[in-house]
Amino acid sequence: MVETGEDKAQKLRVGIIMGGLSSEKEVSLESGRNIFSKIDRRKYDPIPIFMDSRAALWEIPVKLIMRNSTSDIEEDLAEEAKPIPYESLKERVDVVCLGLHGKYGEDGCMQGLLELLGVPYTGSGVLASAIGMNKYVCRRILEISGIDGPRTIPIPRRRWETERADVTEEIAREIGFPCVVKPCREGCSTAVKKVIAAEGLPDAVDNAFLWDNMALVEEFLTGMEVTCGVVGVDAPEALIPSETIPTDDVLSLEDKFLYGQGENKTPARLPGEQIEKIRETAVATFRTLNLKGYARIDMFVRDDGRVAVLEPNTLPGMTPSTVLFHQAAASGITQAGLIDRIIQSALEVHTGKRGPL
Ligand SMILES: Nc1ncnc2c1ncn2[C@@H]1O[C@H](COP(=O)(O)OP(=O)(O)O)[C@@H](O)[C@H]1O
Ligand SMILES: [Mg+2]
Repeated sequence: MVETGEDKAQKLRVGIIMGGLSSEKEVSLESGRNIFSKIDRRKYDPIPIFMDSRAALWEIPVKLIMRNSTSDIEEDLAEEAKPIPYESLKERVDVVCLGLHGKYGEDGCMQGLLELLGVPYTGSGVLASAIGMNKYVCRRILEISGIDGPRTIPIPRRRWETERADVTEEIAREIGFPCVVKPCREGCSTAVKKVIAAEGLPDAVDNAFLWDNMALVEEFLTGMEVTCGVVGVDAPEALIPSETIPTDDVLSLEDKFLYGQGENKTPARLPGEQIEKIRETAVATFRTLNLKGYARIDMFVRDDGRVAVLEPNTLPGMTPSTVLFHQAAASGITQAGLIDRIIQSALEVHTGKRGPL
């Protein structure tokens, strides 16, 4: 079909931002590329935008989006891509679809920039994104709202350096072993480690400190790990939850995002009332944290049936194989349909704003 200038003019220009600075940038490239390929072109005019490792934005041609890695793209930006200074983004796109994950993309930084520029963007706002990224703050807020989660001890770097014996004793007393050590703000299972005895703590904690100045030590949850997408703005709806079947003690990056690895079962193999409890918990989390547009909430159904929230993912993976699309499909929503709902939510949220979100 030949597209006339007029057709193009009526379509909403969607800047799909991918790449970025975080440990999850390769997954982000896959998410962005998938959004670019699945978005409904009858309605939207997608513009692929790459965020480089210095946080500069570039409009990239399709041949660059097909590259294997962010560094392959970065090599040829000067030659092949067009720089987009932040302040000109508003002239170039009508709405931004965030394919970013992790630090600077999912944690409120990018959201703050887009608020300043006055550009609508997909997903949650500044505060909700920042809280969602900080597993400790998030847990405290959920706890106040009566939402269950693993017992957690935060360890600031300084405390670990000066009071290691006390901290170790506190962990043994309050959490016990096995426990899980992780950085407070990361994603894709980066530096998430199951520790079976006190001797294993130093390595795990030091490793977490490579990624953040705050490490968390958590109760090791048993039972069934589940994850549930939620979509919407003021009346959020849960999708059909999936069961996550890990191939190791903690889910690795490979389990979650690469084809054929790890396993999810949608719907989770649980009785109907448990499924409903998971969906209710996902929606309660979404509402409590004031999330917008879409999110995926990771949870455990404990052995005693209680549903504990592990974490929200405020910009969950949008790769072709991602569980969010399986859940949407189980609810009769196509990939293009889900992307459409997410973009429409962004516009709805933007229209109703009184100050930054
Ligand atoms: N407290 C815990 N108990 C049991 N398993 C956990 C715990 N914390 C993390 N895991 C496992 O590690 C994975 C990644 O941890 P998560 O906290 O979700 O970090 P990330 O933000 O990197 O995804 C989870 O999907 C789960 O399989
Ligand atoms: Mg997770």
